[in-house]
Amino acid sequence: MHADKIAVLFFLGLTLLLSGCPDSSTTVDDQGASVSDFDWQMPDWVPLPVEPAYNPITEEKFQLGRHLFYDTDLSANGTISCASCHQQDKAFTDGVARPAGATGDIHPRNSQSLANAAWLRTLTWGNPTLTELEQQIVIPLFGIDPIEHGISEANQNQVLARLQAKPAYQRLFLSAYPDQTEPLFNELAWRNIIHALASFVRGMTSFNSDFDRYTAGDSQALSAAARRGMNLFNSERLECFHCHEGYTLTSSVRDRRRVPNIPAPFNNTGLYNIDGISAYPAPNTGKHELTGQARDMGLFRPQSLRNVALTAPYNHDGSVATLREVILNYAAGGRHLTHGPYAGDGRMNANKDPFIVSFSITEDEISDVIAFLESLTDHAFITHPRYANPWQDDASQDPIP
Ligand code: HEC
Ligand code: HEC
Repeated sequence: MHADKIAVLFFLGLTLLLSGCPDSSTTVDDQGASVSDFDWQMPDWVPLPVEPAYNPITEEKFQLGRHLFYDTDLSANGTISCASCHQQDKAFTDGVARPAGATGDIHPRNSQSLANAAWLRTLTWGNPTLTELEQQIVIPLFGIDPIEHGISEANQNQVLARLQAKPAYQRLFLSAYPDQTEPLFNELAWRNIIHALASFVRGMTSFNSDFDRYTAGDSQALSAAARRGMNLFNSERLECFHCHEGYTLTSSVRDRRRVPNIPAPFNNTGLYNIDGISAYPAPNTGKHELTGQARDMGLFRPQSLRNVALTAPYNHDGSVATLREVILNYAAGGRHLTHGPYAGDGRMNANKDPFIVSFSITEDEISDVIAFLESLTDHAFITHPRYANPWQDDASQDPIP
């Protein structure tokens, strides 16, 4: 577990800062529709996401968060930004199995897409306790195992000073936090940064794929292959839909109409079984990292499959190169690794979810399932200026208006 290795006192101080008085207020009607004027860029048929009362989204916080997200000055040595590992053209992933942080530490996990993160019940691949973006974002900024942005108690003032020196932030912080005097200089500065980053990520919505057009009633929006693939995906033979369901394509979902009162889902898909004892390679043991319970070994959150054609390589450690391989692992009822340090037969993993059972599938059917997964790509999302880098080439300049 990485969060507990953050310098404890500093982290506690930040956690206290996260909650507290709301920045401003939003009202929600019974149908889950928000009367805030934030432009969610999403169709009516999708219910709005839950947001914490202490950080209601506003366009001004979203825009400030966007500038911070793309700013390498928000790291200890000025080399890394959120966008280093979360790149728009790859649906906010980075194309590598496991990314490097500011000082070269390799993260044990694969970078996740941020599309529709606002609807997820828990954040990151295997942590049941991270339920709000505001909590999660502390980890890349201040985590020390691995180091991502590398900000610490020792260098935090230096990092802040770099942000404070930028003219663009004077205006952006004031409009995001109009009730505060000097929101980039006062004791809430870090809280303000985290709230703005969370607002930007919360506002990253992706509902503009061929699949969405089909769902909204355009029967021509999906090719015949994608429609066949969708039927396979939703079949009792393949079982995919049990865990990758609904408008988010994951069972880990909550919204303003429905906050499920059952535990958030985590499943073992039989990727490893080292030495035949159901072990996954440390430190990537999933929910088990936090609980230490044998029954939680290898349990990970079902990933949303939106934009999945752009987010290779796959799985929590990026150890699966292609969608075809992902499907073959499922068809085998798990992954059988015959050599290497993690050799073992994942198909025999004792923690494997009952829905992960072998099935027969032809090459044509695999192509159809892939055509369906490709229909989940939202081309508008990955090119939309709203989510793009707002800075000129030199981040010390004023942003593009
Ligand atoms: C060094 C690469 C790297 C950097 C820099 C980075 N991230 Fe991530 N991000 C990751 C990885 C890897 C994960 C999965 C973490 C895990 O499972 O423990 C992740 C997960 C997330 C998630 C959870 C998504 C989900 O589906 O649950 C959010 C939100 C997120 N990052 C936002 C940010 C923000 C905001 C920043 C900038 C402050 C940032 N990240 C910087 C690599 C990075
Ligand atoms: C029992 C629940 C369950 C079922 C059934 C299931 N999945 Fe998954 N899926 C998961 C979980 C959990 C993960 C993450 C596992 C990991 O990385 O360790 C995942 C990961 C994936 C990924 C990788 C996503 C990424 O961003 O890396 C793809 C693609 C995928 N599943 C597609 C499918 C398809 C296609 C089917 C049907 C053949 C299917 N899944 C069936 C739970 C499930």
